[in-house]
Amino acid sequence: MLHHINPKQIAANPFAMIGDQWMLITAGNAESCNTMTASWGGVGVLWQAPVATCYVRPQRYTKQFLDAEEYFTLTFFDEQWRSALSLCGTKSGRDVDKVKECGFTVKTAECGAPYFEEAELVIVCRKRYVQDFDAAAIPEDVKEKQYPKQDYHTMYIGEIVEVLSK
Ligand SMILES: Cc1cc2nc3c(=O)[nH]c(=O)nc-3n(C[C@H](O)[C@H](O)[C@H](O)COP(=O)(O)O)c2cc1C
Repeated sequence: MLHHINPKQIAANPFAMIGDQWMLITAGNAESCNTMTASWGGVGVLWQAPVATCYVRPQRYTKQFLDAEEYFTLTFFDEQWRSALSLCGTKSGRDVDKVKECGFTVKTAECGAPYFEEAELVIVCRKRYVQDFDAAAIPEDVKEKQYPKQDYHTMYIGEIVEVLSK
């Protein structure tokens, strides 16, 4: 059962949480949503508010949902869901109903943003800043290594409006 906590009560280390445990970025609504795995992102403070940041490449189906909606969620799972997160990070919602395949139960936050009941931690974000990476500002060595297809990320900074924890 998930209950509300304050962002300051999130006990986990963000480097381990995002980089090792991974997260799902989910957007849409109760009827239609899409989700994808991400291991790049951050949490912090901006404009006197708690925020979470994620980076999404242009070809991700999830991006269409992120761009259409005001809110999105970041969800974190325990180890037993690793294979589900692998699936969500290798299959596209254009081809597969990932929610069904993974056996996730869709719930909605107070703002209507979809999340999965099976998560350990849910961070609900209101989009506050969206910007495509400027290729000219990316170091050459990073461009060569990370962007052979020139598919530069879009950065989404969301104000954390709700946090749910098990
Ligand atoms: C561990 C892991 C981390 C990933 N991190 C990101 C990320 O931070 N940003 C991104 O755009 N794609 C990332 N991906 C790739 C997407 O999750 C993947 O392309 C997914 O199939 C997109 O699904 P969609 O087309 O349904 O949106 C990651 C994949 C894995 C397995």
